[in-house]
Amino acid sequence: MSDARTGGARHILEPLQDVQPAPSRPHILRNEVKRMANDISAPAGWLFLSLLAVFAAVTAVDSGFAVHMAIAAAAAFFVAVRGLGAKPKEGMGPRVSPATAGQYYDDVIRWGVIATVFWGIVGFLVGVFIAAELTFPQLNLGEYVNFGRIRPLHTSAVIFAFGGNALIATSFYVVQRTCRVRLFWPNLANFVFWGYQLFIVLAATGYVMGITEAREYAEPEWYVDIWLTIVWVAYLVVFGGTVIRRSEPHIYVANWFYLSFIITIAMLHIVNNLSMPVSIVGSKSYSAFSGVQDALTQWWYGHNAVAFFLTVPFLAMMYYFVPKQAERPIYSYRLSIVHFWSLIFLYIWAGPHHLHYTALPDWAQTLGMVFSVVLWMPSWGGMINGLMTLNGAWDKIRTDPIIRMMVFALAFYGMATFEGPMMSIKSVNSLSHYTNWTIGHVHSGALGWNGMITFAAVYYLAPRLWGRERLYSLRMVNWHFWCATLGIVLYASSMWVAGIMQGLMWREYGDDGYLVYSFAEVVAALHPLYLIRTLGGVLFLTGGFIMVWNVWMTIRGRIREEAPMTTAAFDPARDRPLVPAEAR
Ligand code: HEM
Repeated sequence: MSDARTGGARHILEPLQDVQPAPSRPHILRNEVKRMANDISAPAGWLFLSLLAVFAAVTAVDSGFAVHMAIAAAAAFFVAVRGLGAKPKEGMGPRVSPATAGQYYDDVIRWGVIATVFWGIVGFLVGVFIAAELTFPQLNLGEYVNFGRIRPLHTSAVIFAFGGNALIATSFYVVQRTCRVRLFWPNLANFVFWGYQLFIVLAATGYVMGITEAREYAEPEWYVDIWLTIVWVAYLVVFGGTVIRRSEPHIYVANWFYLSFIITIAMLHIVNNLSMPVSIVGSKSYSAFSGVQDALTQWWYGHNAVAFFLTVPFLAMMYYFVPKQAERPIYSYRLSIVHFWSLIFLYIWAGPHHLHYTALPDWAQTLGMVFSVVLWMPSWGGMINGLMTLNGAWDKIRTDPIIRMMVFALAFYGMATFEGPMMSIKSVNSLSHYTNWTIGHVHSGALGWNGMITFAAVYYLAPRLWGRERLYSLRMVNWHFWCATLGIVLYASSMWVAGIMQGLMWREYGDDGYLVYSFAEVVAALHPLYLIRTLGGVLFLTGGFIMVWNVWMTIRGRIREEAPMTTAAFDPARDRPLVPAEAR
């Protein structure tokens, strides 16, 4: 392969385990950083924060805020007593894997992998529960578990907790390996990880208690938003600091994707959440925007959350883990750069396609539609780049279930990024919008693309991070793959059928000019399809449980005795010439 095409991509394939990283550039900030690292875990500061939170809890004007401040006080007190350096439990394997001892800071990544798996299960479980609630409304048993409160719990758990932890963990892993330098300011990285967990807990408990800003994918209230902003800026400092201190001259393309995710999410989060609290010790706040400006701000944020949270950084994962697992350089490094810039430029304009046929000016709707359709091209460029990386190694799809997951993820990335532009066309959208078609579209991307590429990354990371020879069981990865695949097929196909049926029934007029179906009739017709979706969710969740067991046993250092998946079965009886020798 020509060097022009692979560009800087080759170095990520060099066997890192045998390479001693070049000493990092001498930097004048070293002492200053050490001092800051100590400062951030200074118990006095955390104790002060804890007392402040106790004060806010006592003077709170609503019970939800009081509960949240009590949680914050407990968390700050815990840090004051224990410090920020997380310590793994006994039996969880070596703290630093032998291959990378003294080289990379992986503690926080190990916790990140555990958190990804944990929150994944929580998110899928809640997903199955709300799917069952839509199938059997009797399950709406009370205010705390009503669909309205639990739905944002699901979306936040899967997007921000499962996806977010995967992104933080993999970005810290990838940036160190591709920059060949230890993570900048490890204590701050610990703060990012644990601070992010606090954000998740506050958001999740808030939804259940009915605290919400009612902004899609940005439901947490003002004080949780401020906390996330602090954590996110710290994340940028750790990631950016590592890139700046790199000993590898080239910045590998995965880092560009991660960096644009961190910067853009900060911008989106701050603008979308501009609001005025009613009381400084209360949870309620009012948005700085109103009317159609508010709608546009929300969907500028909402669509870019899909773009810069669920697409761009997962592509970063793709650009690192696919070549590593396939043991081949990325198909075209040049294409990856074109992919990056075109995606970044186009995505930010696509939000208005969520507001077709609303009060938003028509030109803005059309603008959103045009940019969405054009987006199809860079999206497929990226998919092709990932898939073609397997050129010459396609047999790995048969022998390596982790590669199979990656290829499946890319195929679903391709499908979702074809369907999305199509659904943004106004005439198609007039049928699909507000129906389950959108839900089918979202989940083919979410389960097929985000879910599968994350599972593959977790399976890649687990043995390496805990210094194990290999995963506990490759055959269990295979089982996970098939459970998840079947689950996705059931989920997506049932929701596609449900959505198109719903859209057609809503717009069915009789000769008398009246609507043929009442809303309740449409809901009743959806029941069997909701049931199939719930079954699909259960299968996907089952795959998740298989992953928990596999990762847990890998962490414990066990290896399952099983026939390897890489060799075809050998039958000695068939190992002979077709024509017996004596017959010649
Ligand atoms: C066991 C797996 C899952 C099940 C059973 C499930 C189920 C559901 C259900 C029932 C809804 C509400 C649909 C409605 O309002 O009519 C929903 C919404 C949503 N889910 Fe999931 N889900 C699962 C996994 C995931 C994953 C892994 C992600 C993302 C990574 C995800 C992202 C979303 C999003 C973004 C929405 C909001 C969709 C919209 O409003 O258009 N889900 N899910």
